[in-house]
Amino acid sequence: MTHLQDQHIIVVGGSSGIGLAVAATALRAGARVSIMARSRARLDRARQQLDAGDALQTVAVDVTDESTVQLAFAGLPAPDHVHVSAAGFVGGSVLGTPMTELRAALDARLWGAVHVVRAAAPRMTAGGSFVLTGGISTERPAKGAWPTAVATAAAEQLARCLALELAPLRFNAIAPGWTDTPMWDGLLGASKADTFAAVAGRTPTGRLVTADEAAQAVLLLMSNASLNGEILHIDGGLRLA
Ligand SMILES: NC(=O)c1ccc[n+]([C@@H]2O[C@H](COP(=O)([O-])OP(=O)(O)OC[C@H]3O[C@@H](n4cnc5c(N)ncnc54)[C@H](OP(=O)(O)O)[C@@H]3O)[C@@H](O)[C@H]2O)c1
Repeated sequence: MTHLQDQHIIVVGGSSGIGLAVAATALRAGARVSIMARSRARLDRARQQLDAGDALQTVAVDVTDESTVQLAFAGLPAPDHVHVSAAGFVGGSVLGTPMTELRAALDARLWGAVHVVRAAAPRMTAGGSFVLTGGISTERPAKGAWPTAVATAAAEQLARCLALELAPLRFNAIAPGWTDTPMWDGLLGASKADTFAAVAGRTPTGRLVTADEAAQAVLLLMSNASLNGEILHIDGGLRLA
């Protein structure tokens, strides 16, 4: 990864989970890293954890609010690569869930990514790339989770479309399977260990993905200049099972 040395990598959703692991991996590769997320407290915890001094900047931003995204990017040096990890799981039923809740899935994962691209692409250095975030729900939609499945499919398709529209900037996406991150603490609570064991049992590799493994996939997409319009599945083969 020596070619990421001294490059500026912005991770939107970089205070937790996969985004935090991307920040840590990029810092180890010698990059300068800026992380963005909503909660200042989580950003401060991430800063302490990463312990990277001047190589790390933190910016509080909500990706669903375009004007703050524009301001955040305007206040930072030009990015070489941008990873958009910011989004959460949105469940719901088409008949029973209020529209405001259903819309939230696309607000963050699709329109949030579009806000980031509109802020970052005009400032991007030559050879720059974006890595968006889809997920296993695109290929394996689950009952009760269709807003997330539609949103991950949209983010993956956005990467393919923008690889053409904004060439020569490169656009790729990761499609993680079940990854052991803090996202699941709030969603699964006390049932987390049992659910993880059941998912591991269905996965060909016999275990969940780690955030570090997902981060390595992100850095591969950034650092290989011929990977473009690619959806990199990192799911232990679960989408096939
Ligand atoms: N973990 C999995 O099994 C899995 C599987 C497939 C796909 N994914 C996707 O991978 C991405 C990362 O997941 P993760 O498990 O690492 O989640 P996580 O640990 O909950 O981290 C999410 C990060 O995004 C930030 N964020 C969320 N909404 C935001 C917003 N509106 N504006 C700015 N920042 C926002 C969070 O900080 P704040 O809350 O402070 O804003 C946090 O830094 C998500 O898009 C997730 O859906 C995860």
